[in-house]
Amino acid sequence: MPTISFEIQNQNYVVQVATGTLLSEAARQAHVELNIPCGGQGRCGRCAVMVKSGQVRLRSTARLTTADLAAGYALACQAVIESDAVVTIPPQEKVERRLITDKTATKITLPFIYDPARHQPMRLFTITMEPPSMADQTDDWSRLKRALEQELGIRKQEAGNLIANFKNLIADLPTLRRLGQVLREANWTVSVVVESGNNPRLVDVQNSKSKNTLFGVAVDIGTTTVSLYLVDLLSGEVLAKAAEYNGQIKRGEDVISRIIYAGKGEGLRELQSLVIDTINELITRVSQHAKISPLDIYKMTIAGNSTMIHLLLGLSPNSIRFEPFITTINQPPPVRAHELGLNIHPQANVDCLPGIASYVGADITAGVGGLELGESESLFLFLDVGTNGEMVLGDGNWLISCACSAGPAFEGAGVQDGMRATTGAIEEVWINNRTYEPTYRVIGNQNPKGLCGSGLISLLAELFITGAVDKAGNLNFDLESPRIRRGAHGAEYVVAWGLETEHGRDIVLTKVDIDNLIRAKGAIYAGFTILAESVGLDLAMVERVLIGGSFGQYLNIEKAVQIGLLPDVAWSKFHFLGNTALHGALLALLNRDYRQHITEIASKMTYLELSADNTFYDQFTSALFLPHTNIDKFPSVEALRSG
Ligand code: FES
Repeated sequence: MPTISFEIQNQNYVVQVATGTLLSEAARQAHVELNIPCGGQGRCGRCAVMVKSGQVRLRSTARLTTADLAAGYALACQAVIESDAVVTIPPQEKVERRLITDKTATKITLPFIYDPARHQPMRLFTITMEPPSMADQTDDWSRLKRALEQELGIRKQEAGNLIANFKNLIADLPTLRRLGQVLREANWTVSVVVESGNNPRLVDVQNSKSKNTLFGVAVDIGTTTVSLYLVDLLSGEVLAKAAEYNGQIKRGEDVISRIIYAGKGEGLRELQSLVIDTINELITRVSQHAKISPLDIYKMTIAGNSTMIHLLLGLSPNSIRFEPFITTINQPPPVRAHELGLNIHPQANVDCLPGIASYVGADITAGVGGLELGESESLFLFLDVGTNGEMVLGDGNWLISCACSAGPAFEGAGVQDGMRATTGAIEEVWINNRTYEPTYRVIGNQNPKGLCGSGLISLLAELFITGAVDKAGNLNFDLESPRIRRGAHGAEYVVAWGLETEHGRDIVLTKVDIDNLIRAKGAIYAGFTILAESVGLDLAMVERVLIGGSFGQYLNIEKAVQIGLLPDVAWSKFHFLGNTALHGALLALLNRDYRQHITEIASKMTYLELSADNTFYDQFTSALFLPHTNIDKFPSVEALRSG
């Protein structure tokens, strides 16, 4: 078996692998940190390593230049090992830690007055029972049930619907295993956590006469970011909020890359453990912040797109990728925390909210349900843009949804100098319409490292409005600006010279990048148009455009309209709502009515599969211009260009 020696920042990692193994797989086995941003498709070129000695067969060199190849570079995901080799790994782009514990989270106002007896299925009671005797040889489980039933009878109002279904009460085996010992140690007075519903369940029994803590967490698993609220289920108060990059990012930046990675070897298991590690880290953080024990967390409600939910549950997402685009399950049953390795109470209920289809998942149903859009009295367009553009059009009577693959361009990926919206990212650009010189704003007020999604949209809009780029996205070489030039990858505009940047290289937007951005915005606009046309409406009739997700938080509407990403409607119609999926998960965690409402939305919403819609291609092609082939759809942009 060949021996591969990896050199990374003065450290050596050695591994033996079979001939024919990919270098990326050998690196994984050697525990070498190597990012695989496109999931190993040979598309992104960002897993390049230098082969100093030894034989590797290159399956693809598409993203490498002749000079790269001459210098010994290879794409680790495309290089097949044929002999012993020594490989140097360049310093890896680190996913910047951005764990946030938000003390202002307590200020979240719920749209209802929280009453646990009425709203909360997870309940806490203290009960006392008569000890067994020769005269009463009732078994421990029946004794506890009897005492609990008596307690609920006394506290009818608090017991809520627990009483109705009490005869169905069950307990998991691990709880039963502890039962006898706990009852005796507690001298027959215990605190119990019971989950009500059609099949009520004894979740925990504790040797405590005065347990007064019962917590839950609401989670949104985004492809890029995982966000979480820690909630007191007795008071309804949000105690802390935390967010962190999804640990899966290093194995693929978009949904398709993750699905591809999940299909390789141990990929699915690795992706599952990466997201669970992320959630566990967030739980540790919020628990420390609120000074609680994670073992007192008895309920977790999760929103996320269908692929994220599949990966969390360890379900293969493979069929999501191929026609006819089918999930394993849209409405997963609840599972126990210990089945997934979540560091909360082992018998806690983990409730993944229902999705609609492969590309319209529980992030959308949670968003729509949390905003009560199923009862909206006006026509709305709800939009959540990440690596996919997911959208819903409707009012209180009907809801129709679709998803289009925007690709990761708006998250700064797949673009030469793209980056995530973190410190050093250019987030806004202005271009002088006579000199074509830019000014820009950088996150963190430091030297720039690249352009994030909002920076890319802003830059493209400015280039178009000033005439530096035409409708088709071509750079105008007639303008006498040193910033418009031909680089290694063709025509490009220099936003920042190397002298002003963090890394000393020019930051550019290439024609290839512009084409990527136009395709991404074209797919989203085509999605809106087809949704509206499918119900015989015009986008101009939409009364509210609701934008969820982190994308919306930094978006400049004016610029997004100028490139044709958003429809040209009055700005007053746009509303940015932040993380609607997390908000929906919070309401579903606290209130059984919202949970039910989300289930109803999942059944009520119609899904339109764009790839099966024969008008999609025409609409997409029409939208592959700035802002659109039909400028009449964008009167404000036309006025600006001609003014
Ligand atoms: S080219 Fe190898 S991970 Fe993208």
